[in-house]
Amino acid sequence: FAVLRQTLKSSLRQYPDFPQPGILFEDILPLFASPSLHAQLLRALEIHVTSTFPPSLTPPFAGVDVVIGLEARGFLFGPSLALKLGASFVPVRKAGKLPGETVKVTYQKEYGQDVFEMQKDAVKPGQRVLVVDDIIATGGTAAAAEDLVGQLGGEVVGFCFILELAFLKGRDKLKAPVFTLLSGQE
Ligand code: PRP
Ligand code: MG
Repeated sequence: FAVLRQTLKSSLRQYPDFPQPGILFEDILPLFASPSLHAQLLRALEIHVTSTFPPSLTPPFAGVDVVIGLEARGFLFGPSLALKLGASFVPVRKAGKLPGETVKVTYQKEYGQDVFEMQKDAVKPGQRVLVVDDIIATGGTAAAAEDLVGQLGGEVVGFCFILELAFLKGRDKLKAPVFTLLSGQE
C-alpha cells in the first residue's frame, strides 16, 4: 500500500499561484489520464471503504447506502466508487444547476464563497452516506455537504478524499471520520 501511495503521490502536479496568488494548486487530473493509475486509485479507495464499512445483508448494517460526490472534482471518481460499493450515487451541485425541490447551504472554502445544492429526495432519512471529493483543504466544502445530508435526515458515516492539506486542519470542521489516501504540502 505504501508503494501505491508513493506512485499516486508522485503523479500529482503542483501549480503555484493558481487560481490566485499565494495558492499552490494540487492537480489530481494526471491520476485519471493514465488508465493504470486510475485503476490503482479506485482499487485503493475501494479497499479502504469496504474494510471500514463492510457491506452486509444482515443486521447490523454497516455498509454505505449513498455515495455523494461534490461538484466538480468529486464527480470524477464518486460514481465509480459507488458502483464498486453497490451504493447509489448522488451529486451535490453548485447553485442553480439542479431541477425540482432542493436543499441549499452557503459555505466558505480555501478561496472564496460558494453555494451547494442537493435534490430533496436524493437521501432518505436514516440512510448511511459516504461523502467523496478530491481534496480537503479548509474543510468548508466537505462541511457544507455534511450540512445538506443532515437537512435531509441522512447520516454521514464517513468522508473519503484523495488528498489532504493537513496544515489547514480541515478535518476539524467535520463530525464523521475522515479517510485520505495521500497528504501534501506539509
Ligand atoms: C476545490 C476542491 C475541493 C475544495 C476543497 O474545489 O475540489 O472541493 O476546493 O477546499 P476546502 O476544503 O477549503 O473547502 P473547487 O470549489 O475549487 O472547485 P471544483 O468545482 O473544481 O471542484
Ligand atoms: Mg471541488
